Amino acid sequence: MQPKYTEIAKDEPIPMGLTEKVIEGEVFVIRGCLQRLGVFDEIAATSIAGIRDAAGAEVVGKIKREGFDAIHRFASLDQIETATDKIYEHACDKAPDWVSKIAPGLLGITEPYFFERGPNIRFHVPYDIMASNVEAMDRFASKSGGGKLAPHPNHRDSWVGCPDNLINIWAAVGPIPEGNGLTLFPDAFTRDVARVGASIAFDENPGEPLNFNLEPGDTIVFHGEHVHSSVLNRTDGTRHAVSFRIVKEKPHFPNTHYHRYAHSSLAGGPLDFFAELPANLAWSYVETRLGGAAKKLGLKKEEPQRQNRSHASQDKKPLGGKRTFSLSSLPENSLHAITDEVCVARIGKDKIAAFDRKCPHGGGDLALGVILDGEITCPWHNLRFDPKTGASACQTLKRVRMYDINVEGDDVTVSLDNPHAPAASG
Ligand code: FES
Ligand SMILES: [Fe+2]
Repeated sequence: MQPKYTEIAKDEPIPMGLTEKVIEGEVFVIRGCLQRLGVFDEIAATSIAGIRDAAGAEVVGKIKREGFDAIHRFASLDQIETATDKIYEHACDKAPDWVSKIAPGLLGITEPYFFERGPNIRFHVPYDIMASNVEAMDRFASKSGGGKLAPHPNHRDSWVGCPDNLINIWAAVGPIPEGNGLTLFPDAFTRDVARVGASIAFDENPGEPLNFNLEPGDTIVFHGEHVHSSVLNRTDGTRHAVSFRIVKEKPHFPNTHYHRYAHSSLAGGPLDFFAELPANLAWSYVETRLGGAAKKLGLKKEEPQRQNRSHASQDKKPLGGKRTFSLSSLPENSLHAITDEVCVARIGKDKIAAFDRKCPHGGGDLALGVILDGEITCPWHNLRFDPKTGASACQTLKRVRMYDINVEGDDVTVSLDNPHAPAASG
């Protein structure tokens, strides 16, 4: 069954008790949320100010006419990176005020609460443009965290130095269609999910994905322990989103205590200097800082931050020969690994495809993906592949190699001898 979220239309009130439901794992999309809370114009103006600092008034004029999703047409990747930094500078000062409207207006929280100091500013240009300078995007990600300019693989927020009791408020500043947004995997919410460093383990199946189509101001509200990832941008528009993290009680850091959380009654006022103290009075904070110092002194090894994105023997050549299976053993719209390197998909009732398991983007195991709208969908960044040609919408990526198939009655035979990338018309 496809996972679901609760959608609140623009003319419907924000439901009472939303926070409790989110804490239990429910996912909400609130249409026009930032406008209803009275923060959209200021958030958009802050983005414009940062872009002006980085790229000048002429670029700003064009973006005002064409929209944030057109920024990559007028600003270079370097300028977009600088703009992100500049927006952070402006937004950190304004965050206490924005959050003071979001917490009561959206979450119904009136008691003091904690919030992440800096909102997360996100620009994801179309992948084919980003591919020209992946190193710069990855550099930014290691400096400022994943998911800002470069896509983030499946993770829980507590794996990246956040509390495990946070509510994530992820809002579109520009239009964000489904091919360039956020993916959530609600099936994994209450499950033990294996990870390596800050990413899901290569052989872990996150379950059915939940994707969204957002207009400016629309907001996804979800618990930070949902497994989630960035969609690899397969559209021709840039994603511009901002996200806030709020905790009703004291933040609890089960892993590293990396992100800075401010107390709402101290932040933004004369005692702002002390606003992080209540959250930092925790052993997790001391342990993280001591660990950081030990790493600097070479007394402690870095945790593996990124696994080798390869299936155990995936880089080996396919074994060759043939594999046979019965069509009836493969449910409609499902995938199944037939070797360490190759998997098959049954699309609808009659279409069968055999192809390499390794995603040409980051090595995600396509055998753990899903079939969406008749296409093979990678579990890591939701990229889709045509099951006839192995092509995706990202032209700079290689096609997935396909294998010949012969169907006789219920018997399907896959020939592993001749992997090939068929032409688009094939
Ligand atoms: S889309 Fe990124 S690994 Fe497949
Ligand atoms: Fe996240």
